[in-house]
Amino acid sequence: MTRVIIVGAKGRMGQALVKCATQHPGLAVVAEINRGDDLAAALPGADAVIDFSAHAHTVEVARLCAKHKKPLVIGTTGHTDTDTFEIKKLKAKIPIVWASNFSTGVNTLFWLTRKAAEILGTDFDLEVLEMHHRQKKDAPSGTAKSLAEILAGVRRQKLAEVARHGREGIVGARTPSEIGVHSIRGGDVVGDHTVIFANVGERVELTHKASSRDTFANGALRAARWLVKQKPGLYDMQDVLGLK
Ligand SMILES: NC(=O)c1ccc[n+]([C@@H]2O[C@H](COP(=O)([O-])OP(=O)(O)OC[C@H]3O[C@@H](n4cnc5c(N)ncnc54)[C@H](OP(=O)(O)O)[C@@H]3O)[C@@H](O)[C@H]2O)c1
Repeated sequence: MTRVIIVGAKGRMGQALVKCATQHPGLAVVAEINRGDDLAAALPGADAVIDFSAHAHTVEVARLCAKHKKPLVIGTTGHTDTDTFEIKKLKAKIPIVWASNFSTGVNTLFWLTRKAAEILGTDFDLEVLEMHHRQKKDAPSGTAKSLAEILAGVRRQKLAEVARHGREGIVGARTPSEIGVHSIRGGDVVGDHTVIFANVGERVELTHKASSRDTFANGALRAARWLVKQKPGLYDMQDVLGLK
């Protein structure tokens, strides 16, 4: 039995995790941690922690997990460079799965995006489009950032140097090296992502649309079960799914 703690349990993802966990044989939620609850007190009774609270809280969660030697699944997005640096330091102490998106479909999209970018080459203009519900706090989505990172990686570019976040005014012609990243917000959209490869005379579009948070929740629960058997290190969902 893998005993897990859910951090951010009252949130949209937290609720999906608690509900979906009941369908995972061999897994039990032993504590639901919300703002003001004592995670440290719950840790000794658990085998792993799943954090879907907020990026600013994840560093504290990760430090506590490292102190108690508990594997950690990180689902939060929107981390600052400092958050990222602090979390990555802990990979020597505990196994961590950190994924901007836990759905199998989106991880397939990651794989397809890399392949398409390799095949289509530098003649194609690259744009990433994402849409999420009106309550989403960070932009662009973690998944859109991951997609843009994959595209930049294939072209051996640094994303920070080539990312073009939205366009307004007399911006001039598109440069061949830029990677457009655009965020749309509205309604209750769980998460749509499209990668556009546009050339003169043809265009390829790869799209994933999530219509239920259960897909992320089930992926994160699967990651927790996989993680308890791993050595300390930093992993992503491609590792969990064996896509590397
Ligand atoms: N990786 C993926 O596959 C994936 C998929 C979907 C979403 N996400 C990410 O997961 C995160 C949560 O998304 P969501 O839509 O579930 O957000 P949400 O509905 O706002 O839920 C977040 C929950 O965490 C709680 N929380 C915030 N700070 C906390 C703290 N210091 N201690 C304990 N609890 C705290 C919030 O409580 P309050 O209401 O009191 O603030 C809320 O209950 C976001 O970063 C989102 O981008 C990732």
